[in-house]
Amino acid sequence: AFHEKPKALTLASDGPMGKFDRQQLQRGFQVYKEVCAACHSMRLVSFRNLAELGYNEDEVKAIAANWPIQTPDIDPATGEATTRASLPTDPFPSPHANETAARAANNNALPPDLSLITKARSGGAPYIYSLLLGYQEPPAELAQRFPDSMPGPGLNYNPYFANLNIAMANPLGSDGIVTYSDGTNATREQMAKDVSAFLVWTAEPTLEKRHQTGWAVLIFLIIATGLGYMAYRNVWAGVK
Ligand code: HEM
Repeated sequence: AFHEKPKALTLASDGPMGKFDRQQLQRGFQVYKEVCAACHSMRLVSFRNLAELGYNEDEVKAIAANWPIQTPDIDPATGEATTRASLPTDPFPSPHANETAARAANNNALPPDLSLITKARSGGAPYIYSLLLGYQEPPAELAQRFPDSMPGPGLNYNPYFANLNIAMANPLGSDGIVTYSDGTNATREQMAKDVSAFLVWTAEPTLEKRHQTGWAVLIFLIIATGLGYMAYRNVWAGVK
């Protein structure tokens, strides 16, 4: 009764003719980079893949160079882990060394890798979008009827999350926490939409190819069916 189905979300990549809106994907990447990447890894996407969003080689190099990645080495002087600048061939670095460190930083909850999240959760991009905008006060009725389902310490009420209580604090809490380089007004709504679009791309960067190939296959099959039918008529033409 309290859980809600995802709100409708329309993206340029929707439907059999859908194509990515690269400007939007760049904005979504900016949200991932400046907000989500503090907690969530993206292990299946490499810096060089950003070229597909329309960044040129120098921009990709610069984005990588400003993103430190942990090396397996320990600095002998300090005993600390060492970092180096990323290269375009590196996957996005994980914000945490391992699961234990990730849980330690998040009240024992584990921020999932976001590479495939729009495929991994039923509801896809509209679910992510709704979840990001779904933080609210728990309804009074919940407190009265199901006090055990009220958010405990470190949990946040969100009717789009499966069990209503999510360990992630509202990451898009106010407008303007990102300043878009294309000048788009960064409302909460806009950021949620853009990062959801970006996460559709990370989960299926070849979506446009699949859509195009699908049409070519359908057209081929229609022509092949026509030829097959004409051949059949021809072969049996003399038989009464
Ligand atoms: C979980 C997205 C920022 C910490 C999740 C989930 C998604 C998500 C899709 C999984 C929900 C599910 O299981 O169905 C995002 C996006 C972000 C963002 C798009 C940026 C806009 C953050 C930040 C933090 C964080 C900044 C840490 C401060 C977590 C944690 C969980 C989680 C701990 C696990 C929650 C649980 O299992 O209860 N996030 N996140 N996230 N996120 Fe984020």
